Amino acid sequence: MSQTDFRTAALDALAKEVIPEQHFEFSMETARERFFNDTRMLDVKQDVHNRFRTNPTSMVGHMINNLALTGEEDLLDLGCGNAFVLEHLRPHLADGTITGLDVAPAVLEAARARMHGTATPCTWTEGSADDLSMLADDSFDRVMANYMIHYVPDLDRCFSEVRRVMRPGGIFQLTTDRPDSMLEMYQVHFTALKAMNAPAYLFKATPKGRLSLDNGAAQLSAHFETVKRVTWQDQLRFTDPAPFLRFYQVGHNHCCASSEPDERLDEAFFAELRERVAEQVAQAIKENGYFAVTKYTGSFLCS
Ligand SMILES: C[S@@+](CC[C@H](N)C(=O)[O-])C[C@H]1O[C@@H](n2cnc3c(N)ncnc32)[C@H](O)[C@@H]1O
Repeated sequence: MSQTDFRTAALDALAKEVIPEQHFEFSMETARERFFNDTRMLDVKQDVHNRFRTNPTSMVGHMINNLALTGEEDLLDLGCGNAFVLEHLRPHLADGTITGLDVAPAVLEAARARMHGTATPCTWTEGSADDLSMLADDSFDRVMANYMIHYVPDLDRCFSEVRRVMRPGGIFQLTTDRPDSMLEMYQVHFTALKAMNAPAYLFKATPKGRLSLDNGAAQLSAHFETVKRVTWQDQLRFTDPAPFLRFYQVGHNHCCASSEPDERLDEAFFAELRERVAEQVAQAIKENGYFAVTKYTGSFLCS
């Protein structure tokens, strides 16, 4: 058994209380120039998600299972990042090909280095997922877009482009979160912000709210005949606040509070924020043995 259900009535009630309706919105330029101008953010997230998970099946395992690969497919990964997912997927494509596309040259270079010397032919392309004009019609059996769609400027154009480059019978897998994913992280964050009388604009949910597991089916159904949602959960459990704080600060820019430069929020502000968050995490560890961060994520499989 690999699916684990961490959802409880208490967590659902907490989500209603904690997660704001409005979500952050970030541009592709911010992604390219700030978040992914090196691989630090991705490295920290990938490390923590894997080292502290509870579900025996990894998220990458879930994605690979969904793709139903025979080993001979041509696969396109939109927003491939540092190829962490592709590295795990590659043995399942021994006689296929991989094309990775990303808007950020730094992570694309890391992807190239990570996959260098492997036998599956790989092509790396710099560009935005809503302009695939460099790719021919009907050239891929599988297309993926994992945790990246919220950055894409024109979603309608992106989905029509995916349709165009995907062969009939292909699968487009789009992976994203529910807006209340990692709710316990948002709870300690917003509690600390409130205690500090922080500006109102910081009280926003994850930018993935733009196309989340809750609202994505409607957006995708305009472009694909079949849209199936496959959910997946996990719970990260920390018995030491330090790795969680790295995840919170470097991996998530303090739940997006430090994502954009703002002279009103200086380093002293963020130092106090981290201290207040750390206190709550340490208290939870003392009371329960660990601090839990519950993930509600999953994929849309479109054809
Ligand atoms: C959170 S990372 C996800 C990376 C990878 N898919 C994974 O799951 O590990 C988001 C990636 O999307 C890329 N990105 C942002 N906007 C993009 C766009 N318009 N087109 C292509 N890639 C984009 C970023 O540079 C970054 O590598």
